Amino acid sequence: MELNEIAKKMCAKGKGILAADESTGTIAKRFKSINVENLEKNRLTFRQTLFNASAMKDYIGGVILFDETIRQKTSLGSTIPELISKHGAIPGIKVDKGAKPMAGSLNETVTEGLDGLRERLDEYYKLGARFTKWRAVYKISENFPTSQSIKSNAHALARYAALVQEAKMVPIVEPEVLMDGSHDIDKCYKVTTDVLNECYNELNNHKVDLKGTVLKPNMVIPGSDCKKKSNTEEIAKKTLECLKKNVPAEVPGIAFLSGGQSEIEASRNLNEINKINDTDFLITFSYGRGLQASALKEFGKNQSDERNIQKAFNHRAKMNGLSSKGEWSEVMEKETAA
Ligand code: 13P
Repeated sequence: MELNEIAKKMCAKGKGILAADESTGTIAKRFKSINVENLEKNRLTFRQTLFNASAMKDYIGGVILFDETIRQKTSLGSTIPELISKHGAIPGIKVDKGAKPMAGSLNETVTEGLDGLRERLDEYYKLGARFTKWRAVYKISENFPTSQSIKSNAHALARYAALVQEAKMVPIVEPEVLMDGSHDIDKCYKVTTDVLNECYNELNNHKVDLKGTVLKPNMVIPGSDCKKKSNTEEIAKKTLECLKKNVPAEVPGIAFLSGGQSEIEASRNLNEINKINDTDFLITFSYGRGLQASALKEFGKNQSDERNIQKAFNHRAKMNGLSSKGEWSEVMEKETAA
């Protein structure tokens, strides 16, 4: 498949991406919150239960995996990428090695993982991956993000994306401006603008074919400690405006991260953005917590209760599938959950 076709399939109308690529450290935090031991077999059970759910076929275009998961076999004998492909979804892989403290900066990070990436990509392709993810992280405070952080992260993202396309996979470009802090929505708008501009500048320098990429941005929202709240209309309007001004029209798909929004907020905001979307971008979700929080709670209650874990996941996937078409409503949320 051509890269542009893969990108469009990942973000097809009514579908989105399941970000199940928590590193072993991140999944440890999630499991701790539900009192489940962070063992390889528990990680496999939880993920296999989701990847076997009925919602996969209807609402999930792609699944982002972690290195451990792409190598695992399900208890039914198939590999995890085979199980995902069976439902018509595309397997993908997180290839960055995490956000590491940036030398010369007080408290910012630069994402690492470029050394040896070409060889790792070859292996992931053979294991079944057809797209990849790399996440850059930016903090907002009085002095952050610095231009050092904006420039170095954009440069790494572009070098990553160029290598991924060389390996015949679609790079998800994820510059995440964090929600932490007391800044208002306009500050988030400004920082997101600067970050996106520098990313597309570098992607251009590195000759990345934007038609074969997917952008995974944050929504434009106030910081989690901001006193001035914004309603969903304002969030949608500012987010769409920021994307229209700063993302080149060749980019086929934009799939948001949930970034600490609650499951319902993430669905409501995505829905509102799609209601006013007058662009050709396919705008959808690439949620981790936004798709898995309720299912994770059920897993915490009883790890072998596939039915209830899948019920929770199916519901969120369906709600976000509706939001990707601007067809979600609070009423449906309650009706289907009941
Ligand atoms: P959240 O939706 O939980 O923010 O996770 C998405 C993700 O993949 C972050 O890299």
